[in-house]
Amino acid sequence: MLLDTYGRVATDLRVSLTDRCNLRCTYCMPEEGLQWLTKPELLTDDEIVRLVRIAVTELGVTEVRFTGGEPLLRPGLTGIVARCAELAPRPRMSLTTNGIGLERTASALRDAGLDRVNVSLDTLDPEVFQRLTRRKRHADVLRGLAAARAAGLEPVKVNAVLMPGFNEQEAPDLLSWALEEGYELRFIEQMPLDAQHGWRREGMITAGDILESLRTRFELAPEEERERGSAPAERWLVDGGPQRVGVIASVTRPFCRACDRTRLTADGQVRTCLFATEESDLRGALRSGASDAEVAELWRKAMWGKKAGAGIDDPSFVQPRRPMSSIGG
Ligand code: 5AD
Ligand code: SF4
Repeated sequence: MLLDTYGRVATDLRVSLTDRCNLRCTYCMPEEGLQWLTKPELLTDDEIVRLVRIAVTELGVTEVRFTGGEPLLRPGLTGIVARCAELAPRPRMSLTTNGIGLERTASALRDAGLDRVNVSLDTLDPEVFQRLTRRKRHADVLRGLAAARAAGLEPVKVNAVLMPGFNEQEAPDLLSWALEEGYELRFIEQMPLDAQHGWRREGMITAGDILESLRTRFELAPEEERERGSAPAERWLVDGGPQRVGVIASVTRPFCRACDRTRLTADGQVRTCLFATEESDLRGALRSGASDAEVAELWRKAMWGKKAGAGIDDPSFVQPRRPMSSIGG
């Protein structure tokens, strides 16, 4: 298994399939985009499936989440999902996407074996969407969401980041909408992972702010007394339930002690954390003829070096060189 020196076991693998994206969310990328990875740098579909197989069959991974950049931009996505669905034991599989193109692909992904999707949507206002993402694609996302629900990729989760000066007032409206549509809404605190290093602790909207804003319209009760486990979202029952809302307080209430994640970048580097400053090169090992057992051993070693936590709120925090779009959410 993938054990670290703090006794945590990683069973949840996040695989970034591309660093490219068709949006330019201000908390993620600059307007002009980034220097994208080149084709030879990217893992091939075969390499990805091999690494997922090693993770599932030799390292105890039970959950695989495909991310990006925007994973729907990867031509081989459906095939990758189908091949991973044939692994034994079969991992649970989900996709984190901005929803653009999901309208066309949701049912094929479902047929290929995908279990769930997380769709990012920060606002209900097409104009705010355009300012926030610098693209006029709001309607595409709504259609993608509806298609995911129709295809049975449920529960359909919606991730929202609140940004001062854009959508900071929208938490209650987003929740009303999500309840009506049957989507499970989760707010994520803005993290310092933007390529332009524009994140400022002072300006950010905290979990506390979000809950306060939601409570102007809804009654929220903590979902259960039980330990939070490895799930990063603190969940709240809305107006007595059964519907819920989640808040992922990565900055103000980090959940590193229960972290069960390991990450693979689109160019085949293992990262132990979103905020890790070191990576381990599995692509190099694959391409120089390493056996499955050797690759597994490199992966184990990488995870053994996982740090206790990210410490975003510490004065000593250093932002990683890689932005979110090339790590995967
Ligand atoms: N802070 C918090 N969330 C972010 N996301 C992207 N960049 C950031 C950031 N800097 C979110 C996206 C998506 C998920 C992959 O992570 O909105 O929902
Ligand atoms: Fe694309 Fe996601 Fe970054 Fe937005 S946050 S630009 S959707 S990768």
